[in-house]
Amino acid sequence: MTALQENSTAFNPNNLELTLIASYDRLIRANITRVWENVLDWEHLPQLHGTSFGYVSLDEAGDWGWRTWSNPGRTAHIELCVDKTQYVARSYDANKQTSEIWTYLTPEDEQTGIHVEFHATNIKPEAKDKVGKIYLRLYEQLWDEDEAMMMARQLRLTESRNKDTELNLGSSEQLRSRLPITVQLKNSEFRLIELNGKLVLYSTICPHRLGPLIDADICDNSVTCPWHGYCFDINTGKCLSPAESSCKLPEPPTILEESGNIILRYQEFFNATS
Ligand code: FES
Ligand SMILES: [Fe+2]
Repeated sequence: MTALQENSTAFNPNNLELTLIASYDRLIRANITRVWENVLDWEHLPQLHGTSFGYVSLDEAGDWGWRTWSNPGRTAHIELCVDKTQYVARSYDANKQTSEIWTYLTPEDEQTGIHVEFHATNIKPEAKDKVGKIYLRLYEQLWDEDEAMMMARQLRLTESRNKDTELNLGSSEQLRSRLPITVQLKNSEFRLIELNGKLVLYSTICPHRLGPLIDADICDNSVTCPWHGYCFDINTGKCLSPAESSCKLPEPPTILEESGNIILRYQEFFNATS
């Protein structure tokens, strides 16, 4: 399936009276691969941009773009369509198009230039500047949030992490007084916390798209990623929501107490070498 809008990659395919109300230019500190990934990723809208999007539910998505419902009654929707180096997002209310926003992308080494043009219907000349400023403020915030996510993902994709399979954290008593701490083992990163008197380790890196679980609150033994809202059981690693996801937190090492010291160890490696 593809876009509902006919001639979706043409400008103003419904021959509306569109007004260009503002344009926005920015150099994004993420490469073009990260930016396209972000454009096609509708799932982050209600979570990462939670203050801007009240309701988002997927209708369809594919290489062509995506379409999401904007209200529970499914009378309003947004459709985003990609076309080579540009994409267009249109809003509809009761199937009537209300806006058309074109974004043009230019790769610049590890950065990406964006040029955005905001077109809307039914704009009185005296309201143009005011509405334009609202769009500009909104897009500034959306791109701030997107840029931070893309930069953090790029860092996680390219950083080198400790590959050791065992770590001695020293005296149990001293360790408990400096929790929580972050440790790296077997190319993964874990947060060590004390939960109900028990030491617990869970991944700081979300298995979905490498989002940061490090600062997320633990609630009922689960942790929710701030990027797309996937929720994981920190004891089993299982993805609790969305239930159909096959994502799983990486297996943490076993926490052992030996001679008063806390040791983190992947037993299979230990058994294989001892
Ligand atoms: S990166 Fe997508 S939910 Fe964590
Ligand atoms: Fe975004």
